[in-house]
Amino acid sequence: MGYMPVSFPRALPGTGPEPVARILYASQSRINGPVYAQMERIRACAVRHNEPLGVYTALAHQSGWFLQWKEGPADAVRQIMERVLQDPRHHGARIMHRSTGPRLLPDVWSMSIVQCNDSAAEFEARVDQVDAVRLQGLQYAPAAAWRMLSTPLRHPCADRQDTPGVFRRVMVCSAGGEASFALVQHLAWQHRQEVVRRRFAGPQQLDVGSNYTDLPDGQGAVRVIAMARNGLALGLTRALLADYPLVVLWCCGSDVHDVDLMERMVQACGAAPTPPVLMGLGASPTAHRAMFQLARRAGLIYLDAAPVQGPDEAWELISGQLRMMRSAANSLWRQSDFSASA
Ligand SMILES: Cc1cc2nc3c(=O)[nH]c(=O)nc-3n(C[C@H](O)[C@H](O)[C@H](O)COP(=O)(O)O)c2cc1C
Repeated sequence: MGYMPVSFPRALPGTGPEPVARILYASQSRINGPVYAQMERIRACAVRHNEPLGVYTALAHQSGWFLQWKEGPADAVRQIMERVLQDPRHHGARIMHRSTGPRLLPDVWSMSIVQCNDSAAEFEARVDQVDAVRLQGLQYAPAAAWRMLSTPLRHPCADRQDTPGVFRRVMVCSAGGEASFALVQHLAWQHRQEVVRRRFAGPQQLDVGSNYTDLPDGQGAVRVIAMARNGLALGLTRALLADYPLVVLWCCGSDVHDVDLMERMVQACGAAPTPPVLMGLGASPTAHRAMFQLARRAGLIYLDAAPVQGPDEAWELISGQLRMMRSAANSLWRQSDFSASA
């Protein structure tokens, strides 16, 4: 029998289990005109330069600011940062987090553009807040700093929570159609709340949407996030997935699509140290069995729920589940947002 050479992918530097340098900074954008086109140009350079050095990054643009999270071997991160800081498309970079630790971003590139009623001054106030914490010798963990700056919980009810900064949130992903986006729109309209719209992209063309709204919920506020199916593959989504206590898979009635959604979800949860509880809405008995087996093999908790007719019924089931989880274990709402400053 002939010998078939097997080629193994070459391990990139710093992509093993060893600790990496992690840095988050915010800077003021000087981009005038179409932001997405500029972000695509930055992405093309970054993928070319960063990947061979094992540097992974997420970049957001919103309210006239950039927010960038970089991870990789310390020398490579330093080298890239030196070049990026010279770039005339931004200025006034301020460090929001710096540490050495496990790699949290699982992919070379994620980017997002956030459209919200948020001024540059409001964004800057949050930068000052994160800075103030660092001045006390503490810092937000990278994912917490990212959320705090990019997607703060601003619903007035959040102030009634024991820990106003700790997010209560649920992600809803539909297997077909736009049911999750319609749910967010419906709840926002019912509660007279803003819908925040975001566009994400990975290292290639992939361009996906994710909208959210904040609602009153018991003693605080809850965020409901609609995520497009393709968004589950994004490094940034996967890096933040551990922060969700509950993710809802809204089935569409086609077993193939419903099981496909569970496969995507299992892959997305792969890197999460504390994966969310998964809840299926309206799967057929056949799809449910296959979904349950996929989840069980991956060590994930999967609950199924009754079929639902529309957004009100869906929200009743989802909020009921959230209430149950909250009273069962308050610790499910992540408390580990701070780490000592490096
Ligand atoms: C906010 C911001 C973030 C950037 N991030 C990166 C990055 O992570 N990696 C990178 O190589 N270039 C990044 N760039 C682009 C660089 O500043 C620079 O334009 C590019 O590396 C030059 O590449 P070239 O010499 O191949 O033309 C960024 C630019 C901006 C404005």
